[in-house]
Amino acid sequence: MIYAARRHATPEHGVAVVRIALPLTGIDDALGRARLFLLVGVAVAIAAAVAMAAFGTHLLTRPVRSLTEAALAMAGGNLAVHAPAQGTDETAQLGRALNRLSSELLSAIEELRDERDLLASILDGMNEGVLVTDGDARIVLANRALRGMTLVGEGSLGKSVIEVIRNASLQEALDRADTSSEAIVREVELSGLMPRKLLVRVSKLPSRKDRDRGANDRGLIAVFHDVTDLRRLETIRTDFVANVSHELRTPVTAISTAAETLLAGALGEPEEAAEFVDVIDRHAKRLRQLVDDLLDLSKIESKNYRLVLVEQDVIPVVGHVARLLDEAAKRRRVELRIERAEGPLPARVDRRAMEQVLMNLLDNATKYAGEGAHVTVSAQARAGGGVEIRVIDDGPGISPQHLGRIFERFYRVDAGRSRDLGGTGLGLSIVKHLVELMNGTIDVESTLGKGSTFTVRLPPTGERASRDRG
Ligand SMILES: Nc1ncnc2c1ncn2[C@@H]1O[C@H](COP(=O)(O)OP(=O)(O)OP(=O)(O)O)[C@@H](O)[C@H]1O
Ligand SMILES: [Mg+2]
Repeated sequence: MIYAARRHATPEHGVAVVRIALPLTGIDDALGRARLFLLVGVAVAIAAAVAMAAFGTHLLTRPVRSLTEAALAMAGGNLAVHAPAQGTDETAQLGRALNRLSSELLSAIEELRDERDLLASILDGMNEGVLVTDGDARIVLANRALRGMTLVGEGSLGKSVIEVIRNASLQEALDRADTSSEAIVREVELSGLMPRKLLVRVSKLPSRKDRDRGANDRGLIAVFHDVTDLRRLETIRTDFVANVSHELRTPVTAISTAAETLLAGALGEPEEAAEFVDVIDRHAKRLRQLVDDLLDLSKIESKNYRLVLVEQDVIPVVGHVARLLDEAAKRRRVELRIERAEGPLPARVDRRAMEQVLMNLLDNATKYAGEGAHVTVSAQARAGGGVEIRVIDDGPGISPQHLGRIFERFYRVDAGRSRDLGGTGLGLSIVKHLVELMNGTIDVESTLGKGSTFTVRLPPTGERASRDRG
């Protein structure tokens, strides 16, 4: 409570005292309210100050944060992002520098990518196989030609060479090249599904100072040339020379021996002389046959050799050749039959070449089928057009290992027997060339003990004529 008293003196009434008393609770309340108001005001002011400070900082650091985000994205490989670069302040300048860097990086990467694609297409377009290994002897590149030559699959990357090409000679070349400053050249022979002869040149990759730890850390590059066909041709050529010499030597020796014997006195003995003259005659004929065949073959194989293809009925040609061979067939005790279609069988052929083909096939059939055999020559129209001539015998047949080779020059199943029968092994290769020059095909089917069938197929005349015009 609060008390107040005042003395009041007047002349008429004397002294009077006025006294009042008031309770203090109202003042306490008012003071409390004033204090609360003050506290709330101070708190709001502090909060506002903090918020304003935070907002100000945020505004100030935003460009720096954007720059950081852009730089991180670029570092992560995303060169498409753009750093903020508006304005003239330092952050804008930094942003522009960052953007220039990323666009230069982008065009450098594109250039590298183009170069890589160009290199890849050059490597894949090469006829030579290319194999590259790294310093740990793991395959890092195998181009398309190499995959074709060696049947190495796409999954060979990262493997060692011996895992994918099992060849000791190749491995030895790689090992030697690894320790040598010279290139190593080897001819390796791959067996298996696709036998191949490959000439390989292995050398060290050029040094890359930034990566290579030492000379032996450098990878290797091996370049492969497929020499399979080349070696085959070389073998054919050497075989050919050997065969020709051998074939020539036999009749030449026989002729010179017979002539020497005649000169040594046999001339005086008419009977003996006749025998030796007969030897000379037979071997001279054989020599002529051989030379004729060789000349025929070299003419036919030369690119300029042209046949005169005329559309004609092949039945008379078949009949003519069968008549020519009839005598020889009888002598060999072989029955020769002709099966021919009713009507004419037109084909575009060279008459002389066609006769030569049929002569060779019928001569072989009657010669190799043996006594008592049957030989049939059949001429029919093909279902899809064209003509099919088959020479069928029921002789001993040809075993599969020889079948694929009998069209090669000088190839004979039984050289001794064939030579005794007057054969040189050139007949079927001449036949094949001639048939192909007449746009036809020839193939053979044979079963040991049952006989052989040689089939010549000639294309339809219309088709050939239109192809000629085209
Ligand atoms: N019908 C056949 N039956 C069995 N073997 C055959 C038959 N035709 C060919 N041959 C075999 O194929 C080989 C090659 O025949 P090819 O006609 O080319 O030569 P050739 O008959 O020996 O000699 P040429 O025909 O030059 O006189 C023959 O030596 C023979 O062994
Ligand atoms: Mg023959």
